[in-house]
Amino acid sequence: MKVAVVKETRPGEARVALVPQGVQVLLKAGLSVTVEAGCGLSAGAPDEEYVEAGATLAGSPEEALAGAGMVLHINAPSLADPDELGLLGEGAILLSFLDPLGNPDRIRALASRRITAISMEMVPRITRAQSMDALSSQATVAGYKAALMAADSLPKFLPMFTTAAGTIRPAKALILGAGVAGLQAIATARRLGAVVEAFDVRPAVKEQVESLGATFLEADEEVTAEGEGGYAAELSEDQHKKELELIAGAIKAADIVITTAQIPGREAPLLITEEMVKSMRPGSVIIDLASESGGNCATTRMGETVISHGVQVIGPVNLPATIPVHASQMYSKNIVTLVGELVKEGGGIELDFDNDVVGPATVTHGGEIVNERVKSALEA
Ligand code: NAI
Repeated sequence: MKVAVVKETRPGEARVALVPQGVQVLLKAGLSVTVEAGCGLSAGAPDEEYVEAGATLAGSPEEALAGAGMVLHINAPSLADPDELGLLGEGAILLSFLDPLGNPDRIRALASRRITAISMEMVPRITRAQSMDALSSQATVAGYKAALMAADSLPKFLPMFTTAAGTIRPAKALILGAGVAGLQAIATARRLGAVVEAFDVRPAVKEQVESLGATFLEADEEVTAEGEGGYAAELSEDQHKKELELIAGAIKAADIVITTAQIPGREAPLLITEEMVKSMRPGSVIIDLASESGGNCATTRMGETVISHGVQVIGPVNLPATIPVHASQMYSKNIVTLVGELVKEGGGIELDFDNDVVGPATVTHGGEIVNERVKSALEA
């Protein structure tokens, strides 16, 4: 079967879904690979390396996609002009981030074109699937970069300095949401020398936060909302109020705040009110990683930096694309491992919906939306 990779068309995107090392793995599995010329350049993978690895080069997306039985992407193919979805053959298998709970039109379009769409977001968070979990690999990149952005924007040092010109106290960082991105932000801020506090509604992460040398904030009464599959659930109104009180107490002393709180398929919870922003010292920095799903801070604007009561509030978009070499390497490893779940010996393809990764991650097949979570989200 022919596997195709084309240049990502999302503005600002610099990653590629498959790096040359991944080509070799797919060829060994009995597949053939065609890549659009130049697709890996911004991710540090020149055409020659793809060819050396055994891929065929195509001069255009049309040529790359012609006759492809499988297409590997990072961002869902565009429905805009040129309509890349229209170039996919009926029955082709597409593996990509698809935002299936947030973009119903795209999912319907995929179903009506009889594409078998496998959503990287729907790969379950189970131990066996860790090497296929692209949300986690890309969130690692985002958490790291968020800490660097914060350090770069802060008009202060992060570490403690003892110098002839006096002693400088270390900066204080507060991380809200200690999932994959949050834990990486904690680790990076610690490495840069900041004193770090963190909070999450899943008590299970306290130990992980502490193992990174940060302090886990604790309310007088428990504020917890453990959901399914390693994710959080929504807090009750009363618990949310308690969480806001806890954050209001801690945020005044923070130079840097990095927020990453999310509940899949929902708007991001509000954790920082405008009053809280006002209570921070001028020049402090808030990096709101949840800006694309509504933001954790009341004054965040997606994709912008706003100065709110003297505080820099930054709502970055697509941070993984700012470290494209390693983000692509990690994504490529994730997607190639997932393709391995579909390939039979000799290179044939088998879609086994009883497979505990392929089943939940497949959203459309045979003209239907087959994922129950996506179906009910679309109906709602
Ligand atoms: P995750 O699901 O691993 O972590 C989210 C954490 O938030 C969980 O630990 C959860 O328990 C916690 N949480 C939920 N509600 C909370 C609340 N009320 N208070 C405190 N904590 C709460 O997610 P991951 O992969 O770490 O991603 C985090 C966020 O970063 C997401 O919003 C994701 O979309 C975003 N992201 C943004 C990028 C960007 O470039 N802007 C890139 C990658 C991820």
